[in-house]
Amino acid sequence: MTASAPSDVQIPEVKTAGDLAQQPEEYQTAVHKIVASHAVNELYGAHVFDEPAIKLAPTPHAKWLACRIAMEEYHHHVRFKALADEIGIPAERTDPSVKKPLSIFEFQLNTWAEFCVIKAIADYAEILQVEDLLHCSFHPLRNLARVTMPEEKFHAKFGKDSCLELIQAGKADEVQDAIDRYFPITPAFFGASQSKNNEIYRKWKLKQRTNDEMREDFLGRVSELVEKDFGLRLPVLN
Ligand SMILES: [Fe+2]
Ligand SMILES: [Fe+2]
Repeated sequence: MTASAPSDVQIPEVKTAGDLAQQPEEYQTAVHKIVASHAVNELYGAHVFDEPAIKLAPTPHAKWLACRIAMEEYHHHVRFKALADEIGIPAERTDPSVKKPLSIFEFQLNTWAEFCVIKAIADYAEILQVEDLLHCSFHPLRNLARVTMPEEKFHAKFGKDSCLELIQAGKADEVQDAIDRYFPITPAFFGASQSKNNEIYRKWKLKQRTNDEMREDFLGRVSELVEKDFGLRLPVLN
């Protein structure tokens, strides 16, 4: 169940980046955290997964798709970084060499099958995050979510289709092996169960759902993808 804001809190509808400065400090800080996090992680993800995947792609068409995905992920960073600059977030907070990226990017990418699994699973997780921002009370973030969503959907679909191609080509063991090693690190992407940040995001209607609600949704969807669509096994989480 989604927690509702206390009745004494006036939820603003902030239409432009320029209007942010008039909002309560807690609201501004929360917006800064969300924007900075997307800016850092889109850049780092493109750098460690999407760009290296171009050389792993096995065919000209796969290389073209990997190029397109890398370009789009870098562009997601560019969009979030432009908003970060507009609302005055210091440059070091959107720089992955200063601000630590999320743990899902610590996976060492070595094979094409791993990249396909990452796109099928992690980009679905990203879809859930972006979807949650579609109703954000800070409209510039809502607008970014709208333009980003079709591309994230394309990435997840690419991942699914590419995994199916590998499975049909007799490489199901490679896909299973990548799932076994990558999937266990993904639930942490949604953050802690009792997250103070998430509580504040929901209080101000910047985000709509708890970390656990999103994680639950994700786990249900991934188990359907892996077990039903791929006919493979989802590793048991500790
Ligand atoms: Fe992205
Ligand atoms: Fe993506």
